[in-house]
Amino acid sequence: MKIIVGITGGIAAYKSPMLVRLLRQAGHEVRCVATDHALEFVTRVTLETVSGNRLYSDLFAPSNDYSTEHIALKEWGDMLVVAPATANIIGKMASGLGDDALSTLLLSFSTKPILMAPAMNTQMWENLAVQRNIAYLRSVGVNFVEPAVGELACGTTGKGRMAEPEEIFEEIENVKLKIENRLSAEANSQSSILNPQFKRVLVTAGPTYERIDTVRFIGNFSSGKMGFALAEKLAAHGIEVELVAGPTALKCNHPLIHRHDIESAREMLAAATEVFPHCEAAILSAAVADYRPEHAADHKLKKQGDEGMTIHLVQNPDILATLSQMKQEGQRLIGFALETDNELENAQRKLERKHLDYIVLNSLRDKGAGFGVDTNRVTIIGRDGQKHTTPLLPKSEVAEEIIRHCLGN
Ligand code: CTP
Repeated sequence: MKIIVGITGGIAAYKSPMLVRLLRQAGHEVRCVATDHALEFVTRVTLETVSGNRLYSDLFAPSNDYSTEHIALKEWGDMLVVAPATANIIGKMASGLGDDALSTLLLSFSTKPILMAPAMNTQMWENLAVQRNIAYLRSVGVNFVEPAVGELACGTTGKGRMAEPEEIFEEIENVKLKIENRLSAEANSQSSILNPQFKRVLVTAGPTYERIDTVRFIGNFSSGKMGFALAEKLAAHGIEVELVAGPTALKCNHPLIHRHDIESAREMLAAATEVFPHCEAAILSAAVADYRPEHAADHKLKKQGDEGMTIHLVQNPDILATLSQMKQEGQRLIGFALETDNELENAQRKLERKHLDYIVLNSLRDKGAGFGVDTNRVTIIGRDGQKHTTPLLPKSEVAEEIIRHCLGN
């Protein structure tokens, strides 16, 4: 990639050459743009040496190739990383101001990816106007690497220290991945065979944890893999996803996936009912705990000795049934079922009882299907009684079959 590193006037500017080195070692081409204040902290010679390119810092320097060098640079760069980014440059960008080489470049770069690594004193970081500017920039797609908590140049300790160059480097790779995913989603959505009425879909995934005390919970072995595969596939079709996820180590990077992390069934219900009215469909693949301890202790419970221990459980709300009551004309609701006996019959009954459009029956009979593994085999049952059984496939392919079947034209 061709990366422009913008440097503004903060003490963290001494770390910018290290970021440039990391980028070049990874094979990226780098050009640096510095403000006058930045050059009080890091020298032109250092930046030109590590980047292997001439530094751009003066809008009107006679050495500029063009009088509109910021436009030429904008054409050249694939991404602009400002590290460190002061409150000043963030404010200028949020207000659309351009009075030097970097701020004019930022103005012209608005259609391309920008990543900012803020660095400032804690009080400046917490300033409401600074936070408002950051919130605005985030809302228009500017990426940020959060500053760290640590010792600051002013002698105090708090949030505001620029993220380390390695972390910024990693975030640059993440942003790159997001761009690639977005491009492939756009390409896919043009050739999508899904019904265009589905623009945003709610997916629940993973287990729920129900607290017994501050260190223990009741949970289940669900890994969340099926739900995350559904979310990734929907996003690849260009559909926005509201992913409500129970505790899981899984990650998702796709820009069309909005992730809501929750812990318990009641939190899942709250998140799901909030987003469902804005979705055209919901696929509930989470393994929700049917019961929770009536009281969660606010301390670690001590051993009770030989008599054993009794935990009284109360029923959790049924999220699927609740959404089914909220369902409006045109919304589609898809549930999952995990049955061990009379599989088809029980699944069909569940579909009717919860007024679903489709139910996806997980087979526990197949080795390689179900919890924790990367493959699955399911039977999709429609309201009209039609059944479609998949072979044992990777979960991503099962996800594609479910989506095509339940949200197809
Ligand atoms: N589900 C839910 N909320 C719950 C329990 C289940 O949303 N509290 C959803 C699951 O995400 C799944 C479907 O309901 O889509 C089926 O869950 P399952 O536990 O198999 O069914 P139940 O209705 O709980 O019936 P039973 O336990 O009697 O089989």
